[in-house]
This record gives sequence, structure tokens and C-alpha cells, in this order.
Amino acid sequence: MAAMERSLVLVKPDAVRDGHSDEIIGRLEGLGLKKVALKTLRMDRALAEKHYAIHREKPFFGELVAYMTSAPIVAAVFEGEGAVARIRQEMGATDPSKADTGTIRADFGRDVTRNAVHGSDAVETAAKEIRLFFAEEEIA
Ligand code: RTP
Ligand code: MG
Repeated sequence: MAAMERSLVLVKPDAVRDGHSDEIIGRLEGLGLKKVALKTLRMDRALAEKHYAIHREKPFFGELVAYMTSAPIVAAVFEGEGAVARIRQEMGATDPSKADTGTIRADFGRDVTRNAVHGSDAVETAAKEIRLFFAEEEIA
């Protein structure tokens, strides 16, 4: 049986502005995962650079930080067995044009930068990411 896990999900700026955040969060709840925290916020540069620190040397880093700080996002914490992998599967591939039919990125992503959603890629990453966005007191 998969272990109880937490994952950080971010609904990215375009998807929020287009009114898709409830549908995206709802699809993840539909997997049977528990939503234990939720907020809307505007990421500042410092937060975006910390959250995407692993990509600091990549050619797309500047564009990614500019995009993620361009408008409000919705941040959520989900909890459940195998939450990390199950959310990644529901999200689809990073490039929406390569994402499986019916995945969040296939349905709501515009391009490889504006790909609708972020989900933690490992349990250890999730713990770090969650701490950047939520105080423990904000998590149910
Ligand atoms: P995420 O971290 O947002 O959940 O996405 P991911 O794991 O599927 O992809 P990752 O490799 O971690 O990349 C993080 C985000 O950077 C943007 N990106 N742009 N222009 C490009 O080639 C490129 N590659 C990645 C995307 O917004 C991606 O989600
Ligand atoms: Mg990633």
C-alpha cells in the first residue's frame, strides 16, 4: 500500500485568470485526496526563486520566475496515499502538447511555461515546498 503523503499544488497564473482553479482543485479532490490547505496569493520574486531554485541554471529560469510572479496563483496542500505520484499523473507531461488526453495540462495548459499546474515531484521536495507557502498552523 502506498504511504500517506503530502504534495504542494500550485494553479498557475493563466489557469487562475481563466477561472479554472476550482475545476483543477476539484479534479484532484476527485482522486480521493484530502485538501488540507488552500490560499490565493501573488508570489514575489524571492519566493519564486526559492521554489524553483533547482532550475536556477536552466535557460528558462528567468522566464519561469517572471511568469509565476505575473499574477495571483492558487496554492493547495493535498494529503493521501501515494499523493505525489497520483497528482503528477493527473497533471500530465510538462509540455501540454505532449500530455495525455484528459490530464489537467492537456485540458488547461497553453505551452511549456504556462502549463496550468505545479505538483511536487517527490515526498522530500513536497515537504520543502509546503514550508515555503504554508505555516504548519494553516494546514488542517
Ligand atoms: P512543475 O515543477 O511546475 O510541477 O513542472 P514539472 O516538474 O513538470 O517540470 P520542471 O522540469 O520541474 O519545470 C518546472 C517548470 O518550468 C517551466 N519550464 N519551462 N521553457 C521550457 O523549456 C520549460 N521547461 C520547464 C514549466 O512551467 C515547468 O512546469
Ligand atoms: Mg518540477
